[in-house]
Amino acid sequence: MYNLKSKKVVVVGGSSGMGLAVAQLAFELGAEVTLTSRNLEKATAAAASIAATVKGLALDVDDEQAVNAFFKSFSSIDHIYIAAGSTKLGSVTDGVLEEAMQSFNTRILGNLRVVRAVSNKINTTGSITFTGGVSTDRPIAGAWVSGLGTASAEQLARVLVMELPHIRFNAVSPGYTDTPMWDAIMGDNKASILASVAEKLPVKKIATPQEVASAVVFLMSNASVTGEVIHIDGGQRLI
Ligand SMILES: NC(=O)c1ccc[n+]([C@@H]2O[C@H](COP(=O)([O-])OP(=O)(O)OC[C@H]3O[C@@H](n4cnc5c(N)ncnc54)[C@H](OP(=O)(O)O)[C@@H]3O)[C@@H](O)[C@H]2O)c1
Repeated sequence: MYNLKSKKVVVVGGSSGMGLAVAQLAFELGAEVTLTSRNLEKATAAAASIAATVKGLALDVDDEQAVNAFFKSFSSIDHIYIAAGSTKLGSVTDGVLEEAMQSFNTRILGNLRVVRAVSNKINTTGSITFTGGVSTDRPIAGAWVSGLGTASAEQLARVLVMELPHIRFNAVSPGYTDTPMWDAIMGDNKASILASVAEKLPVKKIATPQEVASAVVFLMSNASVTGEVIHIDGGQRLI
């Protein structure tokens, strides 16, 4: 059922966390995998950590010309997963608005740049999967930009089905997931903060990048699923 044999899979933002886990699982299921980072060395190291046949290339989704040039070299693609992004915390009333919105732009304009660059390159039954998040349904104080970004990424999966029905569009919506993104934000407090979050969840655990990856692979594999959002949040939306 989850056979990706010889499928061309591109993971945008595949140097760590969920993207790296998707690249790893897709490779294990037989896909020809290309993963990206903004930094070429990081991309090649991440690719090499999976297998010598995995390609690691540089791509910054904030750069429209670079996105277009990047995808020009692909004649066709089966599946794309876009993990590119981060969380920016801060007050809605502080700082420069355009700077605060940068992480929203990376997510949404970045997703759209990729879609526009590949709209005539996705093979039949192919798919593009975006990354939303639990802050769509459970906004977190200080993470208002993330909440806007996750909701928009999930909505993008629905609106694009009507715009480009020859491509399947879906999203994963992770809750707190143990990835390097939190190292940068929580620092040394990461383990204790994530443990206290886990304690409140129905499943009493934080999601792993591999659990998110298995949902992404399901969305790639099932040719009847489009416009869907899969939540990997340990029940957080219910509490
Ligand atoms: N972890 C969570 O709890 C959680 C929950 C819900 C949603 N999310 C979202 O899920 C996505 C993946 O997060 P993660 O936790 O796996 O974080 P991560 O380990 O930090 O991975 C983020 C990936 O995005 C890439 N990236 C960042 N900005 C980019 C840009 N402008 N262009 C291209 N690539 C870019 C990074 O590559 P380089 O830095 O190497 O360039 C990296 O490969 C993010 O959008 C995040 O906001 C995370």
